[in-house]
Amino acid sequence: VPVSASPSHAKYKEIISSLPRIENGWGISQYLHQYQGFWINTNLLEGIIYAQHYLKAQPTDIFICSHPKAGTIWLKALSFAIFTRKLYSNASTNPLFSESPHDVMPFIDVLAFTDIISRDPKLPFLSTHIPYPSLPKSIVECKCKIIYICRDPKDLFTSFWHFSGKLRAASTKTLPLEEAFRDFCEGHYPYGPYWDHVLGYWKASLQFPERILFIKYEDLQNDTFSYVKRMAEFMGCPFSIEEESQGFVQKVVDFCSFERLSNLEVNKSKNPSSSSGFLKIEKKACFRKGKLGDWENYLTAEMAAEIDQITEQKFSSSGLFL
Ligand code: A3P
Repeated sequence: VPVSASPSHAKYKEIISSLPRIENGWGISQYLHQYQGFWINTNLLEGIIYAQHYLKAQPTDIFICSHPKAGTIWLKALSFAIFTRKLYSNASTNPLFSESPHDVMPFIDVLAFTDIISRDPKLPFLSTHIPYPSLPKSIVECKCKIIYICRDPKDLFTSFWHFSGKLRAASTKTLPLEEAFRDFCEGHYPYGPYWDHVLGYWKASLQFPERILFIKYEDLQNDTFSYVKRMAEFMGCPFSIEEESQGFVQKVVDFCSFERLSNLEVNKSKNPSSSSGFLKIEKKACFRKGKLGDWENYLTAEMAAEIDQITEQKFSSSGLFL
């Protein structure tokens, strides 16, 4: 169990009440609070403060980190399938056939709201959307591994805007695209600003390349095969020559493809993911199109140019291009 004390929600609420807050149209909670440079939902922030105080990461842990809608569920599926390929040598017994990729690893942002999650000691995975500077200290100090995924901000925005429609209670008003776009540019959405989220992990990955693997969704789409091999090496379980010649790398790629995963019965379900705690996100909502460049169907040329300009400005001296 990765935590060492029961949550003290009253204390967290007191901390949160002292922070700047804004109305939130993206779902999950009425407000977003500015905490350590990022806008976070009220209840998620309680979870994050709890994790910061009590999470005890181990050097053998592997954290799957991302901003929401960057391709988290795909990264979870790939890393899990790679790591467990020997554990479930009969592939049909792999939990990914019967569980959502979200549910095969604890999501630490909601640990404060879940009954103690028992972890399978054979599995190293945990996941989070917490920005790098706010990660619980023990994650950084214990030198465990992190795999981070990011994505073209225009596609991330498009994906997030669609997803927010599923997050908001049916009774609340909708978030028009133009309004969402303004919020996006200003960083006013859960875990925003996106660019700062990416930069935190990017800079850390340059500083600690052996501990942080930084992946772009677009690169992963264009050459999933190479990235599966790279992820296996990074996690310390490289594919052997025999495995490669028997097509194991390709099997992982195929198994985790959008078509394959999104068509599994479990991932078509309207039931919420068990790992999402109070978020109650239906499993089906985690799969939409899985394509590059879908933003072209939603954003005007001006909107796209505005996002590109922010990206260029924010990343100008970082060596990162998205
Ligand atoms: P779209 O909304 O653009 O389709 P996250 O898991 O971080 O919430 O990201 C969700 C995005 O990843 C969605 O993007 C979703 O469709 C896409 N996705 C889910 N599974 C995928 C897969 N196996 N391959 C590629 N993209 C996938």
